[in-house]
Amino acid sequence: VNKNEYRKMYDVEGSHWWYVALHDLILHFLKREQNNKDYLNILDAGCGTGRLCQLMSRCGNVSGCDISEYALKFCSERKIHFFYADLNIVDLGNGRYDVITSIDVLYHKAIKDDSVVLKKFFDALKPGGVLMLNLPAYNFLKSAHDIAVHTERRYTKSGLLHTLNTLGFIIENASYRVCFLFPFIVCYRLILRPFLNRRYGNEVTSDVKMPPGVINKLLLWINKIENYFIESFSIPFGTSVFVVARKPLV
Ligand SMILES: C[S@@+](CC[C@H](N)C(=O)[O-])C[C@H]1O[C@@H](n2cnc3c(N)ncnc32)[C@H](O)[C@@H]1O
Repeated sequence: VNKNEYRKMYDVEGSHWWYVALHDLILHFLKREQNNKDYLNILDAGCGTGRLCQLMSRCGNVSGCDISEYALKFCSERKIHFFYADLNIVDLGNGRYDVITSIDVLYHKAIKDDSVVLKKFFDALKPGGVLMLNLPAYNFLKSAHDIAVHTERRYTKSGLLHTLNTLGFIIENASYRVCFLFPFIVCYRLILRPFLNRRYGNEVTSDVKMPPGVINKLLLWINKIENYFIESFSIPFGTSVFVVARKPLV
């Protein structure tokens, strides 16, 4: 992720509809885990600027890790517990965590083999522990946004579930997200943005921008409604794939 993108993320994460809705969904599933146990040991793998760690710290003992020193500076500003780690080579230990979240990380070109990292997550979870993933969907949606955020691969739900099943995970929830906006995002990414880039120059920046207040509220509201569906059902298309997968007890 470009240095400027971290600053942008840090500035908008607390209020931008995309982050707020996603974090709400994760907290919903985290609270469900809390019902089973007193105190959760949680890792956010690829924590970026640490907003999710901050939110999850209500539910347990949270650590974040990331490969970017620049991102970790923001974690330090947030005063959360974090450590430097390259997920390709770090030893996350065995049976250490009740919950691992990894939100929009495995798609990154700095991840050499996503299934190797998923195996580390599997080993690092306690039996019965849970993994939550969010990843960008569909390779055909690759755009200038993906160049700015260093995308190597985008995912389909079936491909991701196949990898998780092969590793031994039991899938509890799996859905696409941001489905309502899907047609608009497809038009913007595939038609409007390439046209604007050709016309006004090739600016390689992400789509992380704060929309006007009313629009932000509207999009947040729409995505919170989507969250209700994702909590119990599976939405058949969207711009992200969201999965909750459990390591079996035995
Ligand atoms: C799009 S950001 C997402 C950050 C955060 N999870 C969030 O939801 O805002 C992707 C993050 O993955 C981290 N990352 C990429 N490759 C990594 C690796 N090999 N080891 C650890 N972190 C990595 C990047 O540094 C970046 O902070």
